[in-house]
Amino acid sequence: MIKVREVEFDDLKPVFQLGHHLFRASAFPILYRNWDEYEILDRFMSDSQFCLLAEDENGELAGFIIGSVIKKPKSSWTYGYINWMGVNEKFQGMGIGKKLYNSLIRRFKRNGANMLMADTSPKNMDALKFFRKRGFNKEENHVYLFKNLKG
Ligand SMILES: CC(C)(COP(=O)(O)OP(=O)(O)OC[C@H]1O[C@@H](n2cnc3c(N)ncnc32)[C@H](O)[C@@H]1OP(=O)(O)O)[C@@H](O)C(=O)NCCC(=O)NCCS
Repeated sequence: MIKVREVEFDDLKPVFQLGHHLFRASAFPILYRNWDEYEILDRFMSDSQFCLLAEDENGELAGFIIGSVIKKPKSSWTYGYINWMGVNEKFQGMGIGKKLYNSLIRRFKRNGANMLMADTSPKNMDALKFFRKRGFNKEENHVYLFKNLKG
């Protein structure tokens, strides 16, 4: 039986470690580069109601989802932004991502969100399939550019 609940302070380390494992540098360099302890700590400190995890009956961490609500000044849009999500490989394909997603969306709606936003690497076919199945369709490409300032 999988339970979804809010992340607590003691969960930050295991959640960070699961993300660190899932967003492997070789597969998703951009995701990997942007994922660090401060990223999750920042999200947790700003609004912990949008930091959720799923665990099994033994308390094993199965997955997490981290979001934020962004209210644009002078706009009628309030965005529910899915910053990060990940499900331990062992638990993938069992509906846990969907469960986490649905819990977060309920919280977004309660907080006035009327538009959803998510991003991932264009090579991340699992995540793209997941989001497309959830009805995300207005896709835009985004290019990251890097320049080494050392030396
Ligand atoms: C994307 C991810 C979160 C999906 O989690 P999950 O728990 O495996 O997904 P679920 O079991 O809830 O599947 C939900 C739906 O997505 C589909 N789906 C999930 N993974 C899929 C895959 N690898 N191939 C095809 N479809 C997939 C399922 O078929 C299911 O479809 P349904 O709505 O018709 O039932 C998971 O694959 C993951 O953690 N990936 C690595 C981290 C990552 O890429 N995160 C996203 C970017 S931050």
